[in-house]
Amino acid sequence: MSCRNAPCECACGENRMTHNQTARHELQELVEDLHQRYVGLTEGEVATYIPELRSANPEHFGICLVTADGGVFAAGDCDQPFTIQSVSKPFTFGLAIEEAGRDKVFQQVGVEPSGDAFNAIELQPGTNRPFNPMVNSGAITVTALLHAVHGDAAMDLILDRLSLAAGRRLTVDAGVYESERRTGHRNRAIAHLLLNFGLVHEAAEAALDLYFQQCAISVTCRDLATMAATLGNIGTNPITGKGAFDIHSVKDMLSIMFTCGMYDYSGQWAFRVGMPAKSGVSGGVIAVVNRQLGIATYSPRLDAHGNSRRGTEACAELASRLGLHAFDCLNVGSSFLSGLL
Ligand code: DON
Repeated sequence: MSCRNAPCECACGENRMTHNQTARHELQELVEDLHQRYVGLTEGEVATYIPELRSANPEHFGICLVTADGGVFAAGDCDQPFTIQSVSKPFTFGLAIEEAGRDKVFQQVGVEPSGDAFNAIELQPGTNRPFNPMVNSGAITVTALLHAVHGDAAMDLILDRLSLAAGRRLTVDAGVYESERRTGHRNRAIAHLLLNFGLVHEAAEAALDLYFQQCAISVTCRDLATMAATLGNIGTNPITGKGAFDIHSVKDMLSIMFTCGMYDYSGQWAFRVGMPAKSGVSGGVIAVVNRQLGIATYSPRLDAHGNSRRGTEACAELASRLGLHAFDCLNVGSSFLSGLL
């Protein structure tokens, strides 16, 4: 008897394949239901401070789940390209840990939520480091470390690794990159503040350029869900089976997403949704359930914190309906200890 035809281990009375198909069907129904429920939520504003982002269609809305065994469940606009923006930050943080070393990264950037806006021009009192690698100052510091190690080859490295996580070759959206490069005066000021404090190397302008390119990588909601599932699957893309990130850096990436990923809404998000997550100004959100699931939503209308309005509500409801909050009684967490008892 093949494994798929074996009786299911639960009490459903079906074989494993039928059970899995039923379970998959339930997740598909769930994403479609969530899409239907929140498609009418039109609060929030599309980001315009990067001029090219103005052209996003505010009606676009996608929800995608990728499970740690490679199942994909999608509803709405999951194949619509948009730029990754700040959702790139945990990935470049993980990459910097792997390429520059953990000690070096934590000399330059903290792990404390700032409680301030993502583009605040501020450093941690006392240490003069950026508060964390999820706010712009910390992300530019991290990207500068990658530039210091790899120079002009750093962008290829970023694209290679994010592409492994997404399971397809990603590219930079030249229009959005040029648009932010031309108008990103605030980030330029932050880069020069970092240079003043010796937190980025002399090639601060080149590092800033690399940061603008990183933010302009073009993705879809389906890509982001696969990237989130790669983190959930401890660094290995669950669809291609290819490794993208080291298990130790994944732990750091998820930890920083849990405490700092949703900017000055991070505390409320941890309380309400309870999953490590990251948002971007173009409207993408990723969330991760360790060893189980990657979630992504795309909807360009943002709240005052810069988080997708529909994305926040859809993730909160998904967490509640599936018991995904880290401390939900339905979430059994690690089975490691019970294996020892
Ligand atoms: O640096 C910036 O301002 C943008 N390239 C990225 C900011 C961002 O995505 C913040 N997210 N909510």
